[in-house]
Amino acid sequence: MVKVLGILGSPHAQGNTVLLLDAVLEGAAAEGAETEKVELAKLDLRFCIGCGRCYAAGSCIHDDGVAAVQRRMVDADGVVLASPNYMHSVTAQMKAFMDRCSLHVHCFLLTGKYGAGVATAGGGGEERVAGFENEFLRLCGAQTVGIAAALAAGPAALRDQEAALAGGRDLGADLVAAIRERRQYPDQAEEHAAFAGRMKQLVARMAEHAPFQYEYWEKMGWL
Ligand SMILES: Cc1cc2nc3c(=O)[nH]c(=O)nc-3n(C[C@H](O)[C@H](O)[C@H](O)COP(=O)(O)O)c2cc1C
Repeated sequence: MVKVLGILGSPHAQGNTVLLLDAVLEGAAAEGAETEKVELAKLDLRFCIGCGRCYAAGSCIHDDGVAAVQRRMVDADGVVLASPNYMHSVTAQMKAFMDRCSLHVHCFLLTGKYGAGVATAGGGGEERVAGFENEFLRLCGAQTVGIAAALAAGPAALRDQEAALAGGRDLGADLVAAIRERRQYPDQAEEHAAFAGRMKQLVARMAEHAPFQYEYWEKMGWL
């Protein structure tokens, strides 16, 4: 069965962003996907300190529940990242989570998966934030199918809410369709190839201090 994981970066479990994320998950479930939602705000999230242990050993120095979220992400076929616009970007919770996924970027651990970005904003920039979430997913090797973005109309209320939620449900359905048909996006394949070329050099340069990622690349036949 197709599995879709939603990761909420808003501190509000009943706020604006979750409305839109739930609509995406609803759309995916209506197409027969098994859906699950994780709230980052429930974790005692620690910051990445750039120690390099993930590259060297494949595990993080922090034990705060992020590894379990990462396992669910790798186990899913589709990943939806959702955040409100905070200062023209994602929330600190979402950014901390992304930083903790450095090994996922270096080893493209979401290869073969599909993703989508969800964002809300008070005054604007919601599409940019959702686009940034998708950029992150592509850095991890996933292909992204689109975004759902809406402006807030108040607490737990979106502007043109019915249309926004309908757009969210359509995105969820399309995500499941992309997963089922193994959809390919040639422009994203080019982006992946260019990034992999740069990453290959980095992985080779870091080999001595980062054996885990070097061995992963070797095992995948990418070196
Ligand atoms: C710290 C903070 C920063 C924000 N920065 C922006 C911003 O730069 N641009 C904007 O349009 N809205 C901004 N907002 C408004 C939120 O993006 C908006 O209210 C959002 O819908 C809240 O979603 P939530 O209910 O899921 O938390 C900010 C809100 C907070 C609390």
